[in-house]
Amino acid sequence: MARKYIVEGGSNLEGEITIRGAKNAVTKEMVASLLAPGVTRLRNVPDIGDVDITRRVMESLGCKITHDAEAGTLESDTSSLATPEVPAEYSGLNRIPILMAGPLLHRFGRAVIPMMGGCGIGERPLDFHLQGFQSLGAKAEYRDGAYHFNADKLTGTRITLPFPSVGATENLMMAATMARGTTEIRNAAIEPEIVDLALLLQAMGAIISQETDRTWMIQGVDSLRPADHRVLNDRIEAASFAASAVATRGDVFIRGADQLHLLAFLNWMRRAGGEFEVRPDGIRFYGRDRKLKSIAAETGVHPGLMTDWQQPLVILLTQAEGMSVIHETVYENRFGYVEALNRMGAKIQVFSECLGGRDCRFRQLNHQHSAVIWGPTPLQGAEIEIPDLRAGFSYLVAAVLAKGRTSISGVRYIERGYDRVVEKFRALGASIQVVEE
Ligand code: EPU
Repeated sequence: MARKYIVEGGSNLEGEITIRGAKNAVTKEMVASLLAPGVTRLRNVPDIGDVDITRRVMESLGCKITHDAEAGTLESDTSSLATPEVPAEYSGLNRIPILMAGPLLHRFGRAVIPMMGGCGIGERPLDFHLQGFQSLGAKAEYRDGAYHFNADKLTGTRITLPFPSVGATENLMMAATMARGTTEIRNAAIEPEIVDLALLLQAMGAIISQETDRTWMIQGVDSLRPADHRVLNDRIEAASFAASAVATRGDVFIRGADQLHLLAFLNWMRRAGGEFEVRPDGIRFYGRDRKLKSIAAETGVHPGLMTDWQQPLVILLTQAEGMSVIHETVYENRFGYVEALNRMGAKIQVFSECLGGRDCRFRQLNHQHSAVIWGPTPLQGAEIEIPDLRAGFSYLVAAVLAKGRTSISGVRYIERGYDRVVEKFRALGASIQVVEE
């Protein structure tokens, strides 16, 4: 049965929450465990839908997964891996199965992976993945609703990605760990979650280094062994709650927020008038008695302003004085969610031009990828439906800010990526009821 959140708005978020492991690292690290027969142990594992989906996919392949959601530990026993074919029923759920291509190729010489899912925030093709596998010597093609990979042995090569794609970098990195010879991935993604994956792979026995200028070098080894790894903290969860604290003119200590991985975000937060205090075990964010200011910013690959920080930041900017501009350069269609915010009283207009920054690869393609936000605008409660994960969190913050009651449906999106989100909002003083529809 589908669930809804009913939020009574008007709270200033105050108190303390603890960040857990990163959604966009843990699922990839579960996949990495397929490379080494035996039990790999992950710690700091968040209690989110994407971990469950990934667990189910891996179990369908014969793995034994034990997840203690309370303790945040997950053991992945891949010694009983029995098939390289991901069942079609897992198509469309998330974007993780395609990352199994490399591990399954190494263990079976072939892999069959059904069509991908994930949030509808752009077309999200897989051409870089397929071309990368072809360069590594695999046969990689899409037919009959699934991606088919075949290779007796992958061979190291030099790959230059057309864009520093997170998923393609991770996929090719895992595939290269046991390829014959050395693989160089240029113009690669270098997000902290990818570095965390590289750390796990190194602990498993891989030889992997980050060179200057977005290049990963991976020297293939004959085999990998299981490892024990603590997943890095979720910088998207941290930034989402930070923006919520400031937008609601509250005061929240985010235990586990890591300054190193929030460098760009913290600068933008300060430019927008929010403040923070860095402590040894986290960061306190506050907006009480502060004048929020408009900004012009653009999202980009690491070390830029993350595309996944954009949505909570937009909510904050609805409360800032003046006209803000956000140029989204990672996904062509990541402003669909603003229409519901406008119904709540926000004043946001989207444009297909590259506003507030340099021209990006979406220039003149008619994608609505720039937004102008006028503020401050009071928000009112409404009935809204979540279109994607990060938009979902921003709706929750908008609802907390709004006057009156907001009913939010489609909450499975939020729960796919945010650890115990209702519990955490409640701990900060928000009034949220969960009802069955
Ligand atoms: N792209 C291609 N061809 C490819 C691969 C990517 O054109 O073969 C394009 C995409 O269409 C997009 C851009 O490259 O325009 C970047 O995509 P990327 O591959 O980097 O994204 P992803 O790996 O699919 C991950 C996260 C996203 C996050 C992005 C960017 C996971 C499971 N997802 O997606 O997270 O926004 O990197 O940092 O790690 C989220 O958590 O809500 C989320 C969407």
